[in-house]
Formats: sequence, structure tokens, C-alpha cells
Amino acid sequence: MRLILLGAPGAGKGTQAALITAHYNIPQISTGDMLRAAVKAGTPLGLAAKKIMDAGELVSDDIIIGLVKERLQQPDCKNGFLFDGFPRTIPQAEALKEAGIPIDYVLEIAVPDEAILERMNGRRVHLPSGRSYHIKFNPPKVEGKDDVTGEDLIQRDDDKEETVKKRLQVYHNQTEALVDFYQKLAAEGQSNTKYVKVDGIGDVKEVNRRIIDALSK
Ligand code: AP5
Ligand code: ZN
Repeated sequence: MRLILLGAPGAGKGTQAALITAHYNIPQISTGDMLRAAVKAGTPLGLAAKKIMDAGELVSDDIIIGLVKERLQQPDCKNGFLFDGFPRTIPQAEALKEAGIPIDYVLEIAVPDEAILERMNGRRVHLPSGRSYHIKFNPPKVEGKDDVTGEDLIQRDDDKEETVKKRLQVYHNQTEALVDFYQKLAAEGQSNTKYVKVDGIGDVKEVNRRIIDALSK
């Protein structure tokens, strides 16, 4: 299974990615998690990316494409993978296509902007694993602690309300065009890529049932 998760910031990509990758036993490739790891490690990439991410803007296509190509060389990607947060621009999608990497499904998780702000406001994350929680909608077993490791949860620096608004704007201006790009690709029948859209409103389990159902058709 090779799939791309498409959706606005806060649509639930990371949350659903964890469930989907466990179901299909494939790795999750989250460019956002990779960048946050670089920020934490203080690498030159991390130092450059931090400012861009905190402003809610996108890191350059060249850097992202390089990161992803390198990640795909790892042996765990042999039997499939899930992209979370990549591609995010038309040039990124073109690069993926040109690299001849087949994609079985593009799965869009649809959530209106109004619901996003509330989700981001209550989000807490476990940085090393990328696991996401919500204080109200998806609380951890112990407040402030990751379910698996018991380590501290934090708020992401880019979850401030004004940064979230900027990220939503960037999504509509630069990423939403991928809906059309992949719908056309699927309709043209030149590839075996299927496009599926799932309603992302509802609780985490319910959305996951819709996704697993859509992927098995
Ligand atoms: P990235 O980390 O990819 O962030 P994003 O796309 O903005 O998405 P989020 O991680 O914010 O949301 P999500 O959809 O994963 O939602 P989640 O599951 O956490 O990117 C961050 C930055 O890195 C970018 O702004 C950019 O600068 C850079 N970057 C990354 N990739 C790039 C690329 N390819 N090109 C260029 N730059 C790149 O859920 C959100 C909240 O809602 C959580 O609290 C969760 O518990 C809750 N929730 C989830 N599901 C539900 C539900 N069904 N009901 C209620 N609450 C729910
Ligand atoms: Zn995410």
C-alpha cells in the first residue's frame, strides 16, 4: 500500500496516519515530523526550517524533495509507505511523479476551516514519535503524558492562532491545488492511482472506519 494523505493543517492527518500505518504495517513519512526532528537536533536544516515553520510558511521544494527521496531509500519503504504532509505543492507532486514512484491511493480528509482552530488550540504532541492528542477530543490516558512512553507532551510552536490562520491560508493557496491534480491523474487512468475523499468530522475511530472502508473498495 502506497498512499498520500491530503488535508488541511489539523484535518487529522497525523492522527489517522498512526492508525493506517499500523493497519497496513507500513512506515509513516511525515515531512513535518522530519523537520521538527531537525529543529530539535539543531542541524543547519533545522535552524533554517524553524523560522519558516513558525511563520506558517512552506520550506523550499528542493529541500523537501531531497529529504523524501533520501527517506524512500530506506529498506522499510519497500512494501509501501504513507506520506503525511507531502506533497504540498504542485512542484513536489510533479517531482514524485517524475521519480516514477507509484501511488495507489490519494486520500483526502475533508474538514472545514471552522473546525480546525478548535482542534489546534487543544492539540498536544509527543515530539519524538509525532503522536498527537487533543485535551478534549482525544485526551491521553494521563494528562500531559504520552500513552506509549509516558514522556511529556508539548504544544507545537506553530499552533498559535495567528500561525494556524496563516497555515490555513497557505494550504488554500498552495496545497489545495493538489486535489485537482490528483483527481485528474486518477480520472485520466494513466496511472493506477485512485482518489478517495473522506469526511473528517466525527470522532477519531469513526473517521478511521470511513478511511479503512474507503481503502478496501
Ligand atoms: P505538518 O507537520 O505537516 O503540519 P500540517 O499539515 O499543518 O498538519 P498538522 O500536523 O498541523 O495537522 P494534522 O492534519 O496532522 O492533524 P492532527 O492529526 O495532528 O507541517 C508543519 C510545517 O512544516 C508546515 O507548516 C511547513 O512549514 C513545514 N512542512 C511540512 N511538510 C512540508 C512540505 N511537504 N513542504 C513544505 N513545507 C513543509 O490533528 C490535529 C488536532 O485535532 C489534534 O489535537 C488531534 O488530537 C485532533 N483530532 C484529530 N482527529 C480528530 C477528530 N476526528 N475529531 C476531533 N479532533 C481530532
Ligand atoms: Zn501532522
